[in-house]
Amino acid sequence: MTMPRVLPAPADDPARLAAAAAEAAAVLRAGGLVALPTETVYGLAANALDAAAVQRIYAAKGRPSYNPLIVHVTGIDALAGVVADVTPLARRLAAAFWPGPLTLVLPRAAGIPDAVSAGLPTVGVRAPAHPVAQAVLAAAGLPLAAPSANPFTRISPTSAQHVVDALGDRVDLVLDGGACGVGIESTVVDATGERPVLLRPGAIGAAAIERVAGVPLTRAAAVAGDAARPAPGMIERHYAPRARLYAFGSGDRGRLSSMLAPSGVALDRPVGLIAFDARGLVADLVLELPREPAGYARGLYAALHDLDRAGCAVAFVEDLPPGSEWEAIADRLRRAGLQSLGELRTKAW
Ligand code: TXA
Ligand code: MG
Repeated sequence: MTMPRVLPAPADDPARLAAAAAEAAAVLRAGGLVALPTETVYGLAANALDAAAVQRIYAAKGRPSYNPLIVHVTGIDALAGVVADVTPLARRLAAAFWPGPLTLVLPRAAGIPDAVSAGLPTVGVRAPAHPVAQAVLAAAGLPLAAPSANPFTRISPTSAQHVVDALGDRVDLVLDGGACGVGIESTVVDATGERPVLLRPGAIGAAAIERVAGVPLTRAAAVAGDAARPAPGMIERHYAPRARLYAFGSGDRGRLSSMLAPSGVALDRPVGLIAFDARGLVADLVLELPREPAGYARGLYAALHDLDRAGCAVAFVEDLPPGSEWEAIADRLRRAGLQSLGELRTKAW
């Protein structure tokens, strides 16, 4: 794979940031693709008003066109021409959480091409908080359609290197703004009605959404009963590394350490481990993540990318603590194909 052009876009160096944003804006206005950092994950951006440019996103990702994209804007004042209506609920949520990791699904404006919203009457919109994303949006003066900058079904990128490794020169320009601070994708909420509907859990928790909305939130699974195809974002095995992932709890540590021993079960090697505390466990690649959801989210995708880079066939993932603040992380691990350790035993023994 040939290298794309990569430009440093340091948020703490205004002159270089402005130069990088101006170059990105020129590529975007010409119908090109730019990978750029947001606070959640890196996005693969194109002019949301240019149907041909948007088609290039789907081609670069190998993504089926029934999966809608998120349109990024500078803020609530930039929604004219993107959405047909800003509901009172959307106004409240945007006032509380924008710029930030919250995507609002709203009725689509006529000027947004079908390709952006996969033909749905609605469109997802978000104002990112990352200074590089904001600088590019301001310089381009356009709404930018941007999904996560990963090939379809692979792990989302949280560094410019992840994008380069996965997409190569299928993207015209990569802006390197360092590692993403949040690390998992935005919370997606349908705000077309009076009650928020959670379509994808994310960095902003369901409880915080309910508090601002002032009404209980519903969950997408409960309303998707008559859908002809999986609701957008509900596709299983979505953010997956190549390794098969098995969950282990504190009661499994003894069994796990004997499985991992050279004389243990004949596992496909190399073997990876993602744990809060890896003491007493030996694996080919040991990754420790903090026992705190924001820190865990920040490190999760880099850890999954590391498993791929090390060629891990199998990896063991320590059970998450209970609590709703872990909901989005549990969702991503489930979509990464996490299975119970019991399933490994029946296969291997
Ligand atoms: O944090 C993020 O949201 C990142 C950064 C780049 O902003 N973007 C991202 O985009 O994760 P993507 O394309 O990988 O995920 C977009 C998801 C869709 O899969 C779907 O779940 C939801 O957003 N979505 C977008 N438009 C929608 C719509 N009109 N109706 C329902 N869901 C929609
Ligand atoms: Mg994605």
